[in-house]
Amino acid sequence: MVVPRVQAAIAQAFGEEFRDTDPVVRPSQFADIQINAAMALAKKVGLPPRDAAARIVEALELDGLCTGVEISGPGFINLTFDGTWIEELLNAQADTAQAPQPQGGPETQARRVVVDYSSPNVAKEMHVGHLRTTVVGDSLVRVLEALGHTVMRQNHIGDWGTPFGMLIEHWLEIGEDSPEAALLVEDPSAFYQAARAKFDNSDSGPDSFATRARLRVVSLQSAHEETLEVWQRLVDHSKVYFNAIYATLGVSLEDEHIAGESSYDPHLAQLCQELEERGLARVSEGALCTFPAGFTGRDGEPLPLIIRKSDGGYGYATTDLATIRYRVHELHADRILYVVGAPQNVHLRMVIETAREAGWLPDTVEATHVQIGNVLGEDGKILKSRSGTPVKLMALLDEAVERARAVVDASRPDLSEDERAVTARQVGIGAVKYADLSVGHDTEYVFDFDRMLALSGNTGPYVQYAAARIRSILRKAGEAVSVGGAPLGAEPGTAVAGPLEGETTAGARIAVVEPAERALALHLLEYGATLRRVGELLEPHRLCAYLFELSQLFTSFYDQCPVLKADESVRESRLALCTLVLHRLTEGLDLLGIEAPENM
Ligand code: ARG
Repeated sequence: MVVPRVQAAIAQAFGEEFRDTDPVVRPSQFADIQINAAMALAKKVGLPPRDAAARIVEALELDGLCTGVEISGPGFINLTFDGTWIEELLNAQADTAQAPQPQGGPETQARRVVVDYSSPNVAKEMHVGHLRTTVVGDSLVRVLEALGHTVMRQNHIGDWGTPFGMLIEHWLEIGEDSPEAALLVEDPSAFYQAARAKFDNSDSGPDSFATRARLRVVSLQSAHEETLEVWQRLVDHSKVYFNAIYATLGVSLEDEHIAGESSYDPHLAQLCQELEERGLARVSEGALCTFPAGFTGRDGEPLPLIIRKSDGGYGYATTDLATIRYRVHELHADRILYVVGAPQNVHLRMVIETAREAGWLPDTVEATHVQIGNVLGEDGKILKSRSGTPVKLMALLDEAVERARAVVDASRPDLSEDERAVTARQVGIGAVKYADLSVGHDTEYVFDFDRMLALSGNTGPYVQYAAARIRSILRKAGEAVSVGGAPLGAEPGTAVAGPLEGETTAGARIAVVEPAERALALHLLEYGATLRRVGELLEPHRLCAYLFELSQLFTSFYDQCPVLKADESVRESRLALCTLVLHRLTEGLDLLGIEAPENM
C-alpha cells in the first residue's frame, strides 16, 4: 500500500526513470515503517542523502494517512500511520477476505500467460530438478491466476527423438503386460537402462535389436501408423508415472496440459525452410544453424544454434522454436515463461533471440526463462542416491512423509490414526515444496530433510503450524471452522479460503491498539502488493518470506495479547484478527501449492 506511493514520489522527485527503484521499506523502531531508498538514490541524483529524503517526502502523497513523517539519521524517512486509517483498511480487507477475488488491484492489466513447467522426459526418472520446476511453476501459475491473468499450462514432455526406437523395440520384446514393462511406471530409469543395455550389447546384423531400433526410428519419423500406436501406448504408460508424482505433490497439471516435443514434429521441416529462405539459417559443417545476435563462442565466433542435424534430424532447439510460434500464434500469449533448469539458459536465450529475428516473437510478447537452480546433496554435488543413481522422486517424497509422521506421532498422540496420517502427508510434502520455493528460484540449495522439516525458521512446517494454531484457537473460541478445505489442485488459485463455516466473528470490527496488533495489521495490509510483486518478478520466495513474517508477527501478537481470556469486545476484535491471519496463511500456502493442516 505504501510502496506504490513511494515509487510515485521518487518518480516525481527525480524523474520517471527512477520509478522502479526499490523504496526499501522496512519495519522501524521509532515509527511504523521506514523508507531507506534515499541513501542509495543520493549518489545517483547527486544530492546529500538527507536532501534526497526531503525531496521524496515533499512529493509523497499521504493524504492524511500519516500522523508523523520524519527524516532521521543519514536519511531514513520514518512514517507513522494514522490508526483509524489502518483500522479502516484492515476491516475492509477482513470483509472481503471471505470470497476469493482477483488480487491484481486496479493497476494490474490481465495478460495471457503461458507457463512451460515440469516437462519431464518419457522413460526417465523425474529428478529433483524436475521436482523443482514442477513446484515453482505450479506456484507461479497459481499466483498469476489469483492476480486475474489467464494462464495456460504447458507440459513440454520429452516424448520424441531417436531413443524411442530402442524404447519401443524393448517394450514390444518384453510385452506390455510384463513386470519389466511395469518399470516404466515404477522405476522409469531402470526401464530405460534395460533398453539401452540391449542396444549397446546388440550386434548389427539385419535382425538384431540395434538394427530394429534404428528402423523403428525411421518408421516413427515417417509417422507409420502402427509404430505411432505403440509409441502412444508407451507414452501413455509414462504419463501414469508423471501423474502419480503430480497427485502426490498436489500439482495442478493434467493430461490436457501436455504438449510434448512430439506435438511440434509436423511443423519442424517448414520452420527450418522458412528460416533458411529468409537468410537466418545456413548450413555449417553439414548442419543447418542459426546464429542469433549476441552469442559468441570462446573463440569469438558466432555461436550456432543447430536446428537440423547433419543426418536430417531435428533437435531440442527446433522444437523450442516451434513452441514460440505455437504459443504466440495459436495460444495468443503475451507472456511466455520457461520454468526450466538454469543450465539451459543459453539454449533458451538463443531460441528466443532467433524467434525475435524471425519476427515470430513480437516485442509486445515477453519471453522469459525462469531459471531453476540445482538441488544439491549434502556433498555439494547434484543430488544422487548413495549408489550414484538418480534419486527416485517417489521414494524421496515417501521419506518426507514418513519423517513427518514420526514427528506428528510424537507430538500429537491425541489425534486419531487417520488424522495423524493426513497431517503427516500435508507436512511432509509441504516441507519439500516449501524448501524448493523459499529460496530464490535461481539459486542452488542443499536438500536436507532435517532443515526443511524443522518447526523453526523459514520452513513449511513453521508456517503450517501457525495456521493450525489459529484453527485451534478459533475452535476453542467455540467456532466450527473449516478453512481452505477445497482440494489442492482442483481449481488452483481459486481454491482459497472459502467462507468460514459457522463463523460468528464475521462482522466484528478489528481494533488495532497494541503495538503487536499494529505490526500484524501493517503486514496484513502488504498482502496484495506482495502477490503483485511475486507475479511481476516471478519470485515465489517473496511469498514465503511474507508468510514466514506473518507467522512470526502472529506469534508475537499471541504472546503479548490475550485472545480467549480477553474481555468480550477485545476478544471479538482479536478473534476477527486471528481469522484474517488464518485466511491469509491458508490462501498464501495454497498459492504455493501447500496445504494447511487442520491439526498439527
Ligand atoms: N524435457 C526437458 C528436460 O528434462 C525440459 C523441457 C523444458 N521446456 C522446454 N520448452 N524446453 O530437460
